[in-house]
Amino acid sequence: MLNHRLINPPREPKKFVKEAIKFLNKHAKGKKVFCALSGGIDSSTAYLLLKKAKIDTIPVFIDHGLMRVIRGVEEREYIKKLFPDIIILDIRDQFLPKIIGEGDAEKKRHLFKDAYSGTISEVIKEEKCDLLADGTILPDIEESFGVKITDLKETMTLEEELALKNTHIKRFVKSQHNVEIEYDVEATIQPVASLTKHEIRKVLEYLGMPDELIYRKAFPGPALSARIIGPVTFENLKFEKKVHDLVEARLEDFYKNQYGKTMIINSYGEQEPFQVFAAISEGVISQKVTGLVNGGRTYQTPKIEKGEWDFDKLIKKASELKGFSRILFELGNNPTGQYDVIIRSINSRDARTATVTNLPFELLNQLKQELLKIPKTKIVYFDVTPKPPATIEYV
Ligand code: XMP
Repeated sequence: MLNHRLINPPREPKKFVKEAIKFLNKHAKGKKVFCALSGGIDSSTAYLLLKKAKIDTIPVFIDHGLMRVIRGVEEREYIKKLFPDIIILDIRDQFLPKIIGEGDAEKKRHLFKDAYSGTISEVIKEEKCDLLADGTILPDIEESFGVKITDLKETMTLEEELALKNTHIKRFVKSQHNVEIEYDVEATIQPVASLTKHEIRKVLEYLGMPDELIYRKAFPGPALSARIIGPVTFENLKFEKKVHDLVEARLEDFYKNQYGKTMIINSYGEQEPFQVFAAISEGVISQKVTGLVNGGRTYQTPKIEKGEWDFDKLIKKASELKGFSRILFELGNNPTGQYDVIIRSINSRDARTATVTNLPFELLNQLKQELLKIPKTKIVYFDVTPKPPATIEYV
């Protein structure tokens, strides 16, 4: 199997789209292409480019049960509104029992990789697809291979890629769900492989997509399992969906009221907020969560702070953190609750580094009060750790 990636295209959206159409025609004209959409901006852009290039494409959304709820609506319903021709594949019943109970972060990632690739392989076979298109973007590639995109060739074999990765193993940050998988296709095709999220948003804007898609917050491949610390259960998944939706919706409303849109470019050139979510855990204080030290992943417990809210002081402390993976500031608690809820809101250019969003304390307090109204909420924290030394997600 080969991987075709558009390397080093022009950055200006109009020129980029023209070049991407040329690239897609070069590799996919007259072929049948499978395209998995996740609801996020990267795969949506890949699909829109395929459509624009008039390539015969099968767009599929795989619902494994760990997708988020957006303002009370399950993601699969939401995506159907944006892309009415999408095929929804419901694998919840087969997939969820496989991941339930697995607490190890990398194992969760691998289970995902397997379930995802297994389902994709079935459709590819049934539909006799020649190619697989995906929305792999620049940071995915650079974090997975530990090399620059320009060190890659437009067309590479999987063996060549593995060899490249092995020579840069020290700089490998995490295993992505969409690299290193062999599918029964001639090749994968990755038209947005050289773009950052910000550039993707510009392309979507140029293609006339609505703001709700352009400013969509990034969501990880392993979905809500990356935001449930420890093993996923049917019960904690239900709770996670609820608090995740609440946190994301309230912060989006705040930005919309304040700035007229749900994401801005701040004075540091970061997308603010780049990602917003709630992570949950039973007793997070004793759980190991991921951090990032000297370019490598670590698993350590978090440090809890409470008392006076001083954003700058907390950020400074978290930036210099040693022996812990992050600092969580306790906003409030209900001793009879069950799950800790961690509010995470970060700003970033491309997810490789991130700063903590300086949200008004009043807003955090309101959010805390709302979260504590849910009887199962135990302690509400705000994560004040930049990346590095923390990662964005908790696995
Ligand atoms: P971290 O947590 O490593 O995340 O700081 C960086 C960015 O990548 C997303 N993320 C993933 N995306 N597969 C993905 O497709 C994964 O395994 C994965 N892990 C993290 C995360 O949401 C953030 O945008």
